[in-house]
Amino acid sequence: MRILILGGDGYLGWPTAMNLAVENEVWVVDNYLRRRIAEATDSEPLIATPSLTERARLFEAVSGNRIETIIGDLGDPDLMYDIVQRVQPECIIHYAEQPSAPYSMRGFKEARETLQNNLNVTFNCIWAVKDIVPDCHIIKLGTMGEYGTPNIDIEEGWLDIEHKGRKDKFLFPRAAGSLYHTTKVLDTDLIWFYVRTYGIRVTDLMQGPVYGLSTDEADLDQGLVPNFNYDDIFGTVVNRFLVQAVAGIPLTVYGGGGQTRGYLNLRDTLQCVRLSVENPADKGTLRIFNQFTETLSVNDIATKIKTVGDSMGLGVNIKSIENPRKEREEHYYNPTHTGLLDLGLEPNYMTDDVIASMLERIVVNKDNINTDRIMPRVRWNA
Ligand SMILES: NC(=O)c1ccc[n+]([C@@H]2O[C@H](COP(=O)([O-])OP(=O)(O)OC[C@H]3O[C@@H](n4cnc5c(N)ncnc54)[C@H](O)[C@@H]3O)[C@@H](O)[C@H]2O)c1
Repeated sequence: MRILILGGDGYLGWPTAMNLAVENEVWVVDNYLRRRIAEATDSEPLIATPSLTERARLFEAVSGNRIETIIGDLGDPDLMYDIVQRVQPECIIHYAEQPSAPYSMRGFKEARETLQNNLNVTFNCIWAVKDIVPDCHIIKLGTMGEYGTPNIDIEEGWLDIEHKGRKDKFLFPRAAGSLYHTTKVLDTDLIWFYVRTYGIRVTDLMQGPVYGLSTDEADLDQGLVPNFNYDDIFGTVVNRFLVQAVAGIPLTVYGGGGQTRGYLNLRDTLQCVRLSVENPADKGTLRIFNQFTETLSVNDIATKIKTVGDSMGLGVNIKSIENPRKEREEHYYNPTHTGLLDLGLEPNYMTDDVIASMLERIVVNKDNINTDRIMPRVRWNA
């Protein structure tokens, strides 16, 4: 299959590109927005990563599989149209957004940049598909954060409602907790409008926070490692706690630590995306999957990492700090997630062995840890 990956230099985009390049023709596009923001906010990854073109060259040398790379801003409609015309993709995987909630809450400039970038790329992608390759399957990365933490079970994208004796089906109500998450809600609404109006086919993957840095392809060479962030801007909670455990810093639980979310291993992101590629949504359908494998509270994660870290002699402490975000610290959370399991997803859970292998990998790179990047630098109420 000819697959175009938007945001192919990112934490998820790069390992996805390598994984799919083994059996498909893969093109990736990126404008290094994440690298630029990471540099500007002093949030660089634990392990330095070569440029996208160098990574592709290295991957071809070690695996024999080719990845075509293009550097450019997909917020520019001319570039999006040119690329889609040239590649004629059968599937587009759209990762190309500004994904940091804290960055989107830093101030007006960052909020506007996030809003414009994320909506522009989604809008340009929809139009290029509609005009050039209307049969192409768009796989769009959404987030479980679109739903927020409602006091009812979260369904897989849609909700049947009976109101005053009549029934209909709607997108599940959304209540995002940051401007970034709100751009994902807006993306979904935009996509749903174009699906029902023009009959394009889309899978929206409502993904939970991802952790890990190991995949079959990334492990072939240190230069192929995904961007692994542990800072307060780009780092996701599990990755942050792992680095804090190795650095000897108490794990920074925000407030009460009862915040519960659906998590998944990076290897499972690759599985879920691959299953979506191989089983495309029908034409005129917006298919939504909740993409995670297990729900855990922040306290659960801290305790698991402490247990494994202590067994390795790291002497891990846990400390509650003032919550920089506006969010419920105790809440009901029960999201459905059967769609991807039905397609064949085989979860890699957060076992002690998985935690130990991630900690071992970080211990080797301990000297790179910059402890100034650990404490939250952005507050929701600032
Ligand atoms: N990492 C997670 O835990 C997680 C969880 C849920 C959803 N997601 C979603 O998955 C997607 C990928 O996340 P990630 O963690 O890999 O983020 P990332 O920032 O590492 O990757 C996104 C990539 O897109 C690129 N990009 C952004 N705007 C672009 C533009 N205008 N033109 C070209 N390239 C552009 C960035 O430079 C970056 O390399 C995002 O949409 C994110 O919202 C991620």
